[in-house]
Amino acid sequence: MNTKLNEILTKALEEIESATTFLKLNEIKAFYTGKKSPLSEIMRMLTNATIEEKKTIGAASNRVKQQIEEAISNKRVALEEKEINDKLQAEALDVTLPGYEFKKGSIHPLNKTIEELEDIFVSMGYSIAEGPEVEIDVFNFEMLNVPKGHPARDMQDSFYINENILMRTQTSPVQVRTLLEAEGKPVKIVCPGKVYRRDDDDATHSHQFMQLEGLVVDKNITMSDLKGTLSVLMKKMFGENRKIRFKPSYFPFTEPSVEVDVSCFKCGGKGCSMCKHTGWIEVLGAGMVHPNVLKGAGYDPKVWKGFAFGAGIERLTMLRHNIDDIRNFYTNDYRFLKQFEGER
Ligand code: PHE
Repeated sequence: MNTKLNEILTKALEEIESATTFLKLNEIKAFYTGKKSPLSEIMRMLTNATIEEKKTIGAASNRVKQQIEEAISNKRVALEEKEINDKLQAEALDVTLPGYEFKKGSIHPLNKTIEELEDIFVSMGYSIAEGPEVEIDVFNFEMLNVPKGHPARDMQDSFYINENILMRTQTSPVQVRTLLEAEGKPVKIVCPGKVYRRDDDDATHSHQFMQLEGLVVDKNITMSDLKGTLSVLMKKMFGENRKIRFKPSYFPFTEPSVEVDVSCFKCGGKGCSMCKHTGWIEVLGAGMVHPNVLKGAGYDPKVWKGFAFGAGIERLTMLRHNIDDIRNFYTNDYRFLKQFEGER
């Protein structure tokens, strides 16, 4: 019997030793400790044995069973440890590998221009105003001296939302909003913002672009104030030696109206491809606030005078950086934008 028990033990220990999975180990456990195990078989064979025999064999069988169970539980611990180590190995991170390169964004060239313009005007005592892009016809046109049916409406093809509401075609409605809010007090603001026109997009046109509006209203404002202000602006934007000139123009909300040219910053005025050999580059529209606009907003035009101007942000930015296609600003091509990193 003892030989038999030893055989069982040796075999069981061998099997346990060679088990590599929990499944296999469970099978071994079921086989050697269950009702039909070889050990139970031996106990059954003892039916006819003496009490003494039963005692010794029973005890020996129990010891074998205990040894087997102990070996199984040791093996289980070993398998668990192996499982953890395998997992750690499989998920190991090589912290010395170089990381991904994260591309760093930079301030958009249009925003840089806006920031610079704002700095220039704030240093001259202006406040920054804002207005909505979805605007009422009354502010975008009517109170700017462009009644319904006025031919000047054709100068700016519009996106209408309904009969009275449109996407603003210019930042000039902020003039009206600012005057109404100021309720008869002096006004000195600039307002940057997006505007919308029904234009076909090409290298120099976009259905959506940005403007900077300027408005000064006070008691003794003259055209020299306008000229002095824009002269400072152009020197700061395009260099100390820049001159400006006014050409007569037409806007319904200014009288007189002017087109403002700056002397070419590339050739200094001698004539080159940049200024189309004229020595001058057209940069913005301006004029003295029309009496009808002042009156409409509650300012007596006999007492109050003002000047206003509107500049295209894209155009100024294109001139400064020699950009030949306005669409570059909107396509978010990283290679284009990266060129302006850190630059003004
Ligand atoms: N709003 C005009 C335009 O978009 C520009 C402008 C503004 C002209 C203010 C005169 C005064 O064309």
